[in-house]
Parts: sequence; C-alpha cells; structure tokens
Amino acid sequence: MNANDRIIPIAVAPAPSFPSAAPAAPGEPLRDTRGRALRDLRISVTDRCNFRCVYCMPKTVFGRDYPFLPREQLLSFEEITRLARLFVVQGVEKIRITGGEPLLRHGLERLIEQLAELPVELTLTTNGSLLAAQAHALKAAGLNRVTVSLDALDPLVFQRMSDVNYAVEDVLAGIDAAAAAGLAPVKVNCVVKRGTNDDQILPLARHFRGSGQILRFIEYMDVGSSNGWKMDEVLSSTEVIARIDREFPLEAIDPNYPGEVAERWRYRDGGGEIGVISSVTQAFCSTCTRLRLSTEGKLYTCLFAQGGHDLRDLLRGGSNDEQLSRAIAGIWRARADRYSEIRTAATAPRRKIEMSYIGG
Ligand code: GTP
Ligand code: 5AD
Ligand code: SF4
Ligand code: SF4
Repeated sequence: MNANDRIIPIAVAPAPSFPSAAPAAPGEPLRDTRGRALRDLRISVTDRCNFRCVYCMPKTVFGRDYPFLPREQLLSFEEITRLARLFVVQGVEKIRITGGEPLLRHGLERLIEQLAELPVELTLTTNGSLLAAQAHALKAAGLNRVTVSLDALDPLVFQRMSDVNYAVEDVLAGIDAAAAAGLAPVKVNCVVKRGTNDDQILPLARHFRGSGQILRFIEYMDVGSSNGWKMDEVLSSTEVIARIDREFPLEAIDPNYPGEVAERWRYRDGGGEIGVISSVTQAFCSTCTRLRLSTEGKLYTCLFAQGGHDLRDLLRGGSNDEQLSRAIAGIWRARADRYSEIRTAATAPRRKIEMSYIGG
C-alpha cells in the first residue's frame, strides 16, 4: 500500500471551500446551524497505536505496511497550542488528547504543560498499556483526568478484542497508577461487541464496583470504513443495564452537565456509578458540542465526517490569528452534522474517516 491508498478518505469529499465568519463575541458561544455551542475540542496527537482493536484498527487494513503519517506532517506541539488558544477564545472549555494511542507521541508531557496553561479541563483517552510509567509525569504536567479503554478482564477475550499481546494486568496497573497520581476519577471505557466480548460485561462490573473508577459501556459504532460493522453485533445499552441490574440493582442519575455523552446509573446499594454511551440506539447529536482536530491539522465537525478542513495549510501558509479565528468560526457556524440521528444500513458503508486517525 502506498500513501495514496490510505483508507483514510482525506479527500473523498470535494475539499470544502474555506468558510470564514465573525469569531464569537466575548462571553457568547459560537453556534452552529442547529444552535449547538462549541465547547469541546478533541486533539489527536498520533495516528499510530500499539493495539489493533478489531472494531477500530483491524490488522487486515492496519498491517505492517500501513502508511502512517510521516513526522513532518504532524502538527508540532507549538502549532497545536497556538490553535488550542484560539479555540478557547471561541468558547472551548474542555480539551481531550486522543490518538491512536496518545502516549506513543514522544514528549507528550511537554504538550500537556503548554495546554495546561489554558483555562480548560484537560483530559486524555488511552489504552492504558503505557500509562503506569507515565501517569505521574502527566499529572505533574497539568493533566486533570484520564479515560482508559478496557474491553475485557479475561486474557483471551482481551487478546481477541485488542489483537496484540499486551496483558490485562498492564492496563489495570495503568488505571491504578492514574488513580494514585490523582488523575481521578478514572473512567474506564468498554466497547461492547455482541458475540465477542459481551460475556465480559458482568466481570467488568464486578471488578470496578466500589473501586471509585467509573466504568462505561459503549455501543459498537460504524466509525471509519474498515471494521466491517454490522447492526447485529451491536448490543444496546438497554441490554447492558438490564444484565447488570439483574445482579446489582441500578437506578438512573442526572447528567453532570447538559449534553453529557454517557447516561449515568448508580448501584442502589452505594457501590458507585457506571455509564452507558448509546450512540447507535439513542443518538445524542442534538447536544453535540464537539470539534475534532486530527494529527495533521484537519478539523472535523463530526466523528463520521467524510472530509475535514485543513488548518495546517493556513498555519503553515502564514495566516495570522485573526484569519485562523475567522476560519474556525466559519467552520463551526456552517456545521449541520447529525450522523448518528440519520444512520441507516445505507449510510454505514460510506467511506468515513477512521477513529484511530481522528480520535475517540
Ligand atoms: P467525559 O465526560 O469528560 O469523561 O467525556 P466523554 O463522556 O465525552 O467521554 P469520552 O471522550 O471518553 O467518550 C467516550 C466514547 O464515547 C468515545 O470513545 C466514543 O466512542 C463515544 N463518543 C464520544 N463523543 C462522541 C460523539 O461526538 N459522537 C459519537 N457518535 N460518539 C462519541
Ligand atoms: N465503536 C465504539 N467506540 C469506538 N472507539 C473506537 N472505535 C470504536 C467503535 N467502532 C472508541 C472506544 C475506545 C476509544 C479510543 O475509541 O471508546 O475506547
Ligand atoms: Fe484500540 Fe484505541 Fe488503539 Fe483504536 S486507538 S486500536 S480503540 S487502543
Ligand atoms: Fe456529534 Fe457527529 Fe457524534 Fe452526532 S454523530 S454526536 S454530530 S460527532
């Protein structure tokens, strides 16, 4: 495969002409065409990962010769920080660092240090395999919280989902190290694929109950174009809750903030909180406040977007802050995305960007 065959459809849709619009007025959020405010920015810092989760980076596509982005195409930490500062002026309150696996990006704590100077909540999503060694330094650099992916406790099922030879213990040690370092509360994300790891729902619930960590189950989604998604492999959040409720009675609790992605539940006996993320069966597009910046500086207005806006071109072409801010405002003000609300069997096979490239 060569770089032109990348599965990532960087340009499947015609490159959108660059919109430009008035930036947000101070104290006034930027609103898109559906009235949604810009609040969250997810920044992908690498398209590489040391896992090959079957629902995200299947080895049939992401094999040894897969053309990952060359280093010079990645945004530098300085470029990321410059953009992040402009996003914050336009209303962003929360920044999540993602990947691929963000802990593979060399010197990541330097970026965290720079972003921690901004008035935002700073979080990171990781597969946890390298977290034990880095948790302390990440906290010291100013990271507030982490979310760790963990799809199984059973070693064989974990291996079947991640398709690599890391041990579940490495991830559990990463979660413990993060909690000990104060990156709390640690959230643990489990993508449920019916027939592959749904027998792990109860073992995971038993393990994290009473631990202080917040376990969340995510419905398997048709992100990207490589995971061969089928609706009958989705196990609904309703079923997840029913299965856990049978062993440990649950009750629903209010969201922490409007538009929270996870629906929250708690154990009636005081064993703590869990969550479910139901992007397939109960779409939450109407409150979606998220914007995604890819590793190479393309801005995506939806996880299921077919094309992005190249901010790196503007950055490296010498645009000033005013021009960059107008571009960001133009992109958000023109946004109309609501893919999960309009998903059908016909939309699922569309060529979309990969989650490993744009971030989870
Ligand atoms: P916190 O509340 O800050 O912990 O963040 P969060 O609830 O947004 O959690 P996180 O970023 O870990 O998202 C959890 C998972 O939800 C992701 O890995 C995705 O699988 C899914 N998800 C997050 N945002 C979106 C979104 O905008 N659209 C869809 N369809 N899925 C999303
Ligand atoms: N469906 C649901 N979630 C996914 N993730 C990646 N691919 C998928 C998918 N197909 C999410 C998981 C993982 C994070 C990095 O991205 O939450 O924990
Ligand atoms: Fe798995 Fe996350 Fe890596 Fe994707 S980016 S392969 S979900 S660990
Ligand atoms: Fe937001 Fe797109 Fe996800 Fe809907 S499908 S919640 S618009 S990212």
